[in-house]
Amino acid sequence: MKRTFDASSRALPHVQNLHAYVPGEQPQGEGWVKLNTNENPYPPSPKVAEAAAAEVLQLRKYPEPVSRELRAAIGERFGLTQSNVIIGNGSDNILDLITRCFVDAEGAGHTVPSYSLYPVVAGMSDKGLVDVPFTREMKLDVDAIAALNTSVFFLTSPNAPTGVAFTCAEIASVLDRIDGLLVVDEAYVDFGGETAAPLLQEYQNLIIVRTFSKSYGLAGMRVGFALADAGIVNILDRVRDAYNLDRIAQAAALAAFEDTQYFDEQCAKVVATREQTRAELDRFGWFTYPSAANLLFTEPKNALGESGAEVARELFEYLKASKVLVRYFPGHPLTCAFIRVSIGTDTEMKAFLTAVESWLKHA
Ligand SMILES: Cc1ncc(COP(=O)(O)O)c(C=O)c1O
Repeated sequence: MKRTFDASSRALPHVQNLHAYVPGEQPQGEGWVKLNTNENPYPPSPKVAEAAAAEVLQLRKYPEPVSRELRAAIGERFGLTQSNVIIGNGSDNILDLITRCFVDAEGAGHTVPSYSLYPVVAGMSDKGLVDVPFTREMKLDVDAIAALNTSVFFLTSPNAPTGVAFTCAEIASVLDRIDGLLVVDEAYVDFGGETAAPLLQEYQNLIIVRTFSKSYGLAGMRVGFALADAGIVNILDRVRDAYNLDRIAQAAALAAFEDTQYFDEQCAKVVATREQTRAELDRFGWFTYPSAANLLFTEPKNALGESGAEVARELFEYLKASKVLVRYFPGHPLTCAFIRVSIGTDTEMKAFLTAVESWLKHA
């Protein structure tokens, strides 16, 4: 007889209650205009393919364990050294390392709404998460963050899903008033946000987290990095998988990072498309947050001029039926009347706007 094992009751109690992160839908089949996961609409630098192909020939050998070349190149770009840089298997990997190393029993803090992975990484470590709520203005509540003074506070800037960026001065005013770690998740900063990286010179309790998934067009590769004091990097390295980045990913990320001309051109194209799309949404008379990211968070109005959760859901469903996939967040009062649209190519955004116009006429 087969020996049985009831995984759900034998898992550690906090894991039994855990909900896995729900990533945006990856639709199967052809013909989708996919504007739901903030991927870059453009492929990575052509130099990535060359670099990756060369590594294929080396795959019998383990990768260099600390991604040394990549750390050095990134460190130099930011006026730091490789001891200030850690590379992750996606920035999600780094958020998990930070949680495992530094979040105490009181839990981490985060603003709400923001990136929905923070509750998941906190849960994986059996830690809680304390909310600092936004109001509709989406202004940073420095007093509330200072009053909480958690061991770790996650701040997304530009924020997700709104695209609203916070200034270096605002971030410095938080850092002045806490003694825990402030993690500034700059996944979208290359599309127009102000980086808090210069503040690393003055504040040892700051970690800047970045990703190659958005501005470098490498979401499929899984590479992220963080900049921090050497002491923090040293601690994070103790819990990092020894070979957390494969050979191809290290070479691909380095090639993408060094092709600055290609990078600048692609980012500029995305920003130009975002602003054109925004102007069209303004023309519909919709409220849209000012975005410094490769997305727009907009509050649709139907043909009768009505907005609200039901209108946003209707539009989301209509677009999906037209094979235009955007993101809808029904779970929070500040997000449920909005849709989040990732910035695609000009052609993709035209398809999105045409579908919206058709909804306005027919719905
Ligand atoms: C704010 C934020 N941080 C991090 C990530 C994930 O980045 P990565 O693909 O490097 O894990 C995302 C992805 O959507 C994000 O929105």
